[in-house]
Amino acid sequence: MNTKQAVIQHILAEYKKIPTKSWGESFAPSNIALCKYWGKRDSELNLPMTSSLSISLAHKGAQVKIALIDSPEHELIINGKIIDNSLPHAKRLLAFLDNFIFDNAHRYQLTLCYNIPVAAGLASSACTFAAIVKALNDLYQWQLDHPSLSILARLGSGSAARSIDVGFVEWQRGNRSDGMDSYAVPLNQSWPELNVGLSMIQTNIKSVSSREGMKRTLQTSPLYAAWPQKIQQDLTQVKKAIAQKNFDLFGKTAESNALAMHATMHTAWPPLMYSHPETITMMKRVWELRDAGLTIYFTQDAGPNLKLLFLDSDITNIKTEFPDIEIISPFKKETINA
Ligand code: PMV
Repeated sequence: MNTKQAVIQHILAEYKKIPTKSWGESFAPSNIALCKYWGKRDSELNLPMTSSLSISLAHKGAQVKIALIDSPEHELIINGKIIDNSLPHAKRLLAFLDNFIFDNAHRYQLTLCYNIPVAAGLASSACTFAAIVKALNDLYQWQLDHPSLSILARLGSGSAARSIDVGFVEWQRGNRSDGMDSYAVPLNQSWPELNVGLSMIQTNIKSVSSREGMKRTLQTSPLYAAWPQKIQQDLTQVKKAIAQKNFDLFGKTAESNALAMHATMHTAWPPLMYSHPETITMMKRVWELRDAGLTIYFTQDAGPNLKLLFLDSDITNIKTEFPDIEIISPFKKETINA
């Protein structure tokens, strides 16, 4: 038995493995890290080198429906299309489902519906695995607590640990080798005036996965040694900024954290660069606008798309400057219910 299965068995030991309804369903939002997760201390259990902190994207994410079927193979349907089980992204999902097979006669039919582009640095794996775990919880009526859901989601993809909850969420690194103390906890802080602008520079599947990117960076970048300390400082600053609603401190910390993460990637070998020329052009425009008095910052994940951070007070100017961005207001009621 591998360690992933040992963790799952430990969490589900007391729970029944027979569904009480014909299908389970759930939604999980994407999340955008303000202090990034970059580097694993255990790649089987997706245990991080550091803690991280994110904001969830309200209604943007994955809707999952899951049912047991009388079949020797799982069935996967993404955005209305039946997916070939031999495709790489299908294999990863199906391998995750294999961990939750409790009888040999059945497999799962998994239906996923996204309202974000998949695998383009918009945290699609985060919402996918979180929604699958929540849908299984619904199918079997386990009523697991949030730390357990977060741990199970982490086994699919690290950042999925942060997509179980909404709003600001901190994923605590933990110290245990079985990862039972490595899960996400919501900050329970609201910031209704806060907006995230999603740029769509590219929406294709990325060339180097974050799993591969992290591994390469950790093994080869001379800058990686400075990363845990940088994260520690930024976590303190960003939590202070959220508590005080200090937007300049918030934006500056998030932007600097993303740039530091990308510096570790650029100095890996072979070098890793997720930015496209349009990404750099947009970054420079953000810096120019900031110099001109607009309070705007960005963050960037393992993809070319920037996520802009700004308050309601600047929304009109930002819409004029960046007409193509999609604006999400994580704490506004109308966004949450959309
Ligand atoms: O969970 P993964 O393996 O997709 O890694 C996510 C990595 C980043 O998006 C770059 C950072 C983060 O904290 O979400």
